[in-house]
Amino acid sequence: MLDGKNILLGITGGIAAYKTTFLVRLFIKAGANVKIILTDSASSFVSPLTLATLSKNPVVTDFIKSEAHTTDWNNHVELGLWADIMLIAPATANTLSKMANGACDNLLLATYLSAKCPVYFAPAMDLDMYKHPSTAASFEKLKSFGNIMIPATSGELASGLYGEGRMAEPEDIIDFITDHLSKGLPLQGKKVLITAGPTYEAIDPVRFIGNHSSGLMGFELAKASAQLGAQVVLISGPTHLQVEEKSIYLKRVVSASEMYDAVLADYTDADVVICAAAVADYRPKTVADQKIKKSDSDFNIELIKNKDILFSLGALKKNQYLVGFALETENELENAKGKLKRKNLDAIVLNSLNDKGAGFGSKTNKITFIDTNSQIVAFELKTKAAVAVDILNEIVKRRYA
Ligand code: CTP
Repeated sequence: MLDGKNILLGITGGIAAYKTTFLVRLFIKAGANVKIILTDSASSFVSPLTLATLSKNPVVTDFIKSEAHTTDWNNHVELGLWADIMLIAPATANTLSKMANGACDNLLLATYLSAKCPVYFAPAMDLDMYKHPSTAASFEKLKSFGNIMIPATSGELASGLYGEGRMAEPEDIIDFITDHLSKGLPLQGKKVLITAGPTYEAIDPVRFIGNHSSGLMGFELAKASAQLGAQVVLISGPTHLQVEEKSIYLKRVVSASEMYDAVLADYTDADVVICAAAVADYRPKTVADQKIKKSDSDFNIELIKNKDILFSLGALKKNQYLVGFALETENELENAKGKLKRKNLDAIVLNSLNDKGAGFGSKTNKITFIDTNSQIVAFELKTKAAVAVDILNEIVKRRYA
């Protein structure tokens, strides 16, 4: 949710300011770009140098950058427009009151007034200040402006008193913002099940039959689904790829039959299912217990058929939107349409190995999306990340628009 987002963090003068160092680290780890405005008093609680180092951006405190008589100044309008999200944390009673009343006596407040993006604020103050009617009035007024409050929690306060007023913990602030951003996303509350990667079919303890699938297309589909708010179950054959998103549950399998069992276990309550794995169609009839020794004669392996996972899912389909992939080398459209029908799919994504940069192993792909109404949408060659977004958009358009 936060990957690539521009986050403008306003820090005001409260002891909770020290926690913003952790907050900045979490934003950066989530892939966000962070710029920070400190009020004067906040810089007594947390060092601008620490924050600049963590955010990898200069920290600004005042309108004027350095010497007097300079034209080089911190432009609050530009900062406000740069931000996708503005967060004021900790937000003191003083700053909240000024925000609620349009005061504009520092760079942070001027930027707040200029910002067009969603504004979140995480109050932090002593319990009596938090409960005071004037503070409550500031909260209400700010909410009426559309600003979003991240409520303080209860606990021991800097005063030694115990009660409500502690700034939410950095992890909870991140969770709050990501949850809030994901509301209204088209796949919010939906479960997306994806298969990815190759399968390895064992010959003996050290050898297998596999293929060159990297798994990248399936992993990018998982990320794109998560970006649209889905809970994702990603079932992948052997690959070095990793996931970091909390909303993607990665289950690693090795063989086609393991993938079959894992997929079936998660199928019933899935809303969208995309089979991007390059599943082996056959496996050795017997798997040797010990490493097979070389002999003077030739060697044959008898292969038996694996179950077609996608075909089985099509046969069991109820409300799931089921999407398969077709990797073709000839009669591409006809073959893909044939698979769409035979496997009872809602749509199929065609890759042609005749297109340079498409299919296995590469970081790019060129696809054609075909649905049951024979609606055909052909896309240009793109990165697999961009292709995944196109595929999800086509699915959302047909099922959730
Ligand atoms: N698939 C599957 N289980 C298998 C084989 C394929 O789930 N045992 C899925 C793939 O994940 C893909 C689709 O079926 O979504 C089509 O795979 P593909 O290899 O193109 O087609 P096949 O049905 O195997 O037919 P062929 O290899 O003859 O083209």
